[in-house]
Amino acid sequence: MDFSSFSNRDTYTRNDLITAIRKDIIGELDAINQYNFHIEHTDNELARRVWVDIRNEERVHVGELLKLLSVFSPDEVDMLKAGQAEVEAIMNELGIATSQRK
Ligand SMILES: [Fe+2]
Repeated sequence: MDFSSFSNRDTYTRNDLITAIRKDIIGELDAINQYNFHIEHTDNELARRVWVDIRNEERVHVGELLKLLSVFSPDEVDMLKAGQAEVEAIMNELGIATSQRK
Protein backbone atom coordinates (compact mmCIF):
# COMPACT_ATOMS: atom_id res chain seq x y z
CA MET A 1 0.00 0.00 0.00
CA ASP A 2 1.25 3.44 -0.93
CA PHE A 3 -0.49 6.24 0.96
CA SER A 4 0.41 8.69 -1.80
CA SER A 5 -1.76 6.77 -4.27
CA PHE A 6 -4.92 7.42 -2.24
CA SER A 7 -7.30 10.15 -3.27
CA ASN A 8 -9.45 12.05 -0.78
CA ARG A 9 -12.41 9.80 -1.69
CA ASP A 10 -10.63 6.48 -1.23
CA THR A 11 -11.25 4.42 1.88
CA TYR A 12 -9.15 1.56 3.14
CA THR A 13 -10.00 -2.01 2.30
CA ARG A 14 -9.52 -4.60 5.02
CA ASN A 15 -6.06 -5.39 3.64
CA ASP A 16 -5.21 -1.69 3.50
CA LEU A 17 -6.21 -1.39 7.16
CA ILE A 18 -3.96 -4.30 8.11
CA THR A 19 -1.04 -2.79 6.18
CA ALA A 20 -1.67 0.66 7.65
CA ILE A 21 -1.71 -0.71 11.20
CA ARG A 22 1.51 -2.63 10.59
CA LYS A 23 3.15 0.55 9.26
CA ASP A 24 1.89 2.40 12.34
CA ILE A 25 3.49 -0.27 14.57
CA ILE A 26 6.79 0.23 12.72
CA GLY A 27 6.50 3.97 13.35
CA GLU A 28 5.85 3.45 17.05
CA LEU A 29 8.82 1.07 17.38
CA ASP A 30 11.08 3.53 15.55
CA ALA A 31 9.89 6.28 17.91
CA ILE A 32 10.64 4.11 20.95
CA ASN A 33 14.18 3.52 19.71
CA GLN A 34 14.64 7.22 18.98
CA TYR A 35 13.47 8.24 22.46
CA ASN A 36 15.69 5.59 24.01
CA PHE A 37 18.63 7.05 22.13
CA HIS A 38 17.78 10.54 23.39
CA ILE A 39 17.36 9.23 26.95
CA GLU A 40 20.73 7.49 26.86
CA HIS A 41 22.52 10.59 25.55
CA THR A 42 21.31 13.38 27.78
CA ASP A 43 22.26 14.45 31.26
CA ASN A 44 19.35 16.92 31.41
CA GLU A 45 16.89 15.46 33.93
CA LEU A 46 13.86 17.37 32.65
CA ALA A 47 14.39 16.28 29.05
CA ARG A 48 15.11 12.72 30.18
CA ARG A 49 11.92 12.52 32.27
CA VAL A 50 9.75 13.85 29.44
CA TRP A 51 11.31 11.49 26.90
CA VAL A 52 10.85 8.51 29.24
CA ASP A 53 7.17 9.46 29.63
CA ILE A 54 6.66 9.82 25.88
CA ARG A 55 8.63 6.62 25.18
CA ASN A 56 6.36 4.70 27.52
CA GLU A 57 3.27 6.17 25.85
CA GLU A 58 4.60 4.88 22.52
CA ARG A 59 4.95 1.41 24.08
CA VAL A 60 1.27 1.59 25.04
CA HIS A 61 0.45 2.63 21.48
CA VAL A 62 2.16 -0.53 20.22
CA GLY A 63 -0.18 -2.54 22.44
CA GLU A 64 -3.20 -0.65 21.14
CA LEU A 65 -2.15 -1.21 17.55
CA LEU A 66 -1.44 -4.91 18.12
CA LYS A 67 -4.93 -5.30 19.57
CA LEU A 68 -6.41 -3.40 16.63
CA LEU A 69 -4.43 -5.57 14.23
CA SER A 70 -5.84 -8.68 15.89
CA VAL A 71 -9.36 -7.41 15.10
CA PHE A 72 -8.69 -7.17 11.38
CA SER A 73 -6.24 -10.07 11.20
CA PRO A 74 -7.58 -12.62 13.70
CA ASP A 75 -4.78 -15.13 13.20
CA GLU A 76 -2.25 -12.48 14.23
CA VAL A 77 -2.59 -13.40 17.90
CA ASP A 78 -2.07 -17.09 17.07
CA MET A 79 1.11 -16.20 15.15
CA LEU A 80 2.43 -14.07 18.01
CA LYS A 81 1.71 -16.86 20.49
CA ALA A 82 3.42 -19.39 18.20
CA GLY A 83 6.50 -17.18 18.04
CA GLN A 84 6.55 -16.77 21.81
CA ALA A 85 6.23 -20.54 22.26
CA GLU A 86 9.19 -21.11 19.93
CA VAL A 87 11.37 -18.77 21.99
CA GLU A 88 10.17 -20.33 25.24
CA ALA A 89 11.13 -23.77 23.89
CA ILE A 90 14.66 -22.52 23.18
CA MET A 91 14.78 -20.90 26.62
CA ASN A 92 13.75 -24.19 28.19
CA GLU A 93 16.53 -25.97 26.28
CA LEU A 94 19.00 -23.44 27.65
CA GLY A 95 17.58 -23.55 31.18
CA ILE A 96 16.56 -19.90 31.13
CA ALA A 97 13.47 -18.92 33.13
CA THR A 98 10.63 -17.86 30.82
CA SER A 99 9.65 -14.93 33.05
CA GLN A 100 11.63 -12.74 35.39
CA ARG A 101 8.45 -12.34 37.48
CA LYS A 102 8.16 -16.02 38.37
FE1 LIG B 1 2.61 6.83 19.35
